[in-house]
Amino acid sequence: MNYFASIEQEPEDPIYGLQVLFKKDPRPEKINLSIGTLPNSDGKAFKFASIAKAEANVHSQNLPKDYLPIDGYEPFRLAVQELIVGPKKENSRAAYTAQAVGGTGALYIAGQFLARHITKTIFISDPTWVNHRKLFTACGLEVFSYPYVVAKNGALDIQHLLNTLYAIPIGSAVCLQASCHNPTGIDPTLQEWKEISRILKTRNHIALFDIAYLGLGTGLEDDLAPIRLFFEEGHEMLIASSFSKNMGLYGERVGALTIACHEKETLPIASQIRKIIRTIYSSPPSHGAYIAAECLRSHALRGEWHAELHTKRAELDQLRSAFYQEMEKYRPHDPFTALKASTGLFSICRLTKSQVLKLRDENAIYLAEDGRINIAALPHSRELLHRIVHAIAHV
Ligand code: LMR
Repeated sequence: MNYFASIEQEPEDPIYGLQVLFKKDPRPEKINLSIGTLPNSDGKAFKFASIAKAEANVHSQNLPKDYLPIDGYEPFRLAVQELIVGPKKENSRAAYTAQAVGGTGALYIAGQFLARHITKTIFISDPTWVNHRKLFTACGLEVFSYPYVVAKNGALDIQHLLNTLYAIPIGSAVCLQASCHNPTGIDPTLQEWKEISRILKTRNHIALFDIAYLGLGTGLEDDLAPIRLFFEEGHEMLIASSFSKNMGLYGERVGALTIACHEKETLPIASQIRKIIRTIYSSPPSHGAYIAAECLRSHALRGEWHAELHTKRAELDQLRSAFYQEMEKYRPHDPFTALKASTGLFSICRLTKSQVLKLRDENAIYLAEDGRINIAALPHSRELLHRIVHAIAHV
């Protein structure tokens, strides 16, 4: 018997696969605008000074290497919960938070939980992060999409989105990106979030928020505003968060799943979440959670981290406007205007797949297949930026 002979080769992952190609590319002028990270000019991940200090503190405490509990390091879990839904007030709603292996791990646990206990149907935005569909399908959910149409001027077609959320089967799960929409960079306004909240309530849909880029949009609190709004409005909901980008802890795989519920529901929910985690990886890694908790729980480090996030956002804004200004020179009536309105790391260059490939092959410029560009990875030098813009405008 030859079991393995019939195994089919899967295509490479559209984001991670490109990182392998980029690494192998010998051209010195190559530039990687494809993956959603905050790189330094040498392409390596930016290191936050506050997080480096938190890590040094953790090392000096010589914390144990024992297994963490199934749902993670408690000081981390509590600190994340406070960050996401705000400090616990008397009579306020309850929440439960489990540590997860990155934002992806949190989404996977959430997907499993939804499929087992709530609904078999989830709606994701079209377009969305390339991994959402595969991930939720792997959880046993049927995945459909709702339109997330961004016009050339950057306006989101909110009516189309709302109409669809109204029309889909009652009691569906809806995956919403709270800020820094991946890949468009265009988020609903707070007023529009209120409308989304109203429709989800009317139709008994359950929200699963993905907030992988928290703090890199318009500010920590602003980025959380839709979640806080839903929380105040009494939604039962799930929130997958991550410290990959906003603390630069990518490889540490530090994420969390928070579930907003009633106090008496926390214990049964926690038991079901632990059941899911135990069968996948038993318990999460400790090192990154120690670091994140150290930062979140120290007044000084947390303040420093907030200030660094502020600086990063200002840098992103600068890069975005430099890119936009260069673009305008070539295309005064351009299809790139949505860039100006975007927040966070991403914007979509309206390019075909073959144009994206051509940019890669002929100019060593790596964009995601759907034309998504990571603004944070653009060069600060005007000369280099000019080369990139020239290539994009003429591809
Ligand atoms: C991205 O969208 O580029 C990042 O979130 C990295 C990933 O896991 O795809």
